[in-house]
Amino acid sequence: MHRFVAVVVVPSVALLLAWGAAAQTGKGAEQIKLAGGTQGAVPFPHHRHQKALGDDCLACHAFFAQEPGSIVKSKAEGKLAPKQVMNTMCIQCHRDRKQAGQPSGPIGCAKCHIKE
Ligand code: HEC
Ligand code: HEC
Ligand code: HEC
Repeated sequence: MHRFVAVVVVPSVALLLAWGAAAQTGKGAEQIKLAGGTQGAVPFPHHRHQKALGDDCLACHAFFAQEPGSIVKSKAEGKLAPKQVMNTMCIQCHRDRKQAGQPSGPIGCAKCHIKE
């Protein structure tokens, strides 16, 4: 009896853990600190955006890969100009949504950039 329980339970726990880890990786980190140059770093609530935008990943990831550090990498490779993500993505969306009276995010410099 004991042996039967061990055989059945152990693999299913392992499976559950593996599934949990995969789901976590797939959606990326909950909170990300983005490099913001001379103005200071930009804390970014990643999962909150996924939820607010109904899991529309391409709203952002059409511009850069789903990899840690992909914005810095694309800027270094010249695929993104400095401040391009900030202006054409972050601020643009926040401004449009604010004007439409929808839930939105910050527009002022110091509301996004944190000087340390
Ligand atoms: C509002 C913008 C936005 C949306 C929407 C968004 N992401 Fe991200 N995502 C980011 C940013 C910004 C980064 C960090 C890139 C960097 O480090 O340069 C990122 C990074 C990631 C990473 C890399 C790992 C990490 O945590 O840094 C993964 C994986 C990821 N996103 C998956 C997703 C998935 C899946 C969705 C849709 C369910 C999604 N993202 C929706 C902005 C977004
Ligand atoms: C909605 C959030 C947000 C707001 C508001 C914002 N920024 Fe940014 N800023 C970012 C992000 C994210 C980056 C990094 C990505 C990029 O360069 O596009 C960035 C990057 C920068 C950089 C570094 C560019 C580089 O590559 O060296 C500077 C400088 C900067 N911002 C200045 C400002 C100033 C000045 C304001 C106010 C007029 C401002 N930001 C408002 C999010 C924001
Ligand atoms: C396509 C639209 C969209 C894009 C792109 C987007 N945001 Fe947002 N942002 C939102 C919405 C919607 C909310 C409000 C979420 C909520 O109410 O839970 C928000 C909220 C925020 C907040 C939370 C403010 C608070 O009240 O605590 C921050 C910080 C933020 N955004 C930063 C950024 C940065 C930095 C970027 C670019 C890397 C970005 N956002 C890109 C739609 C967007």
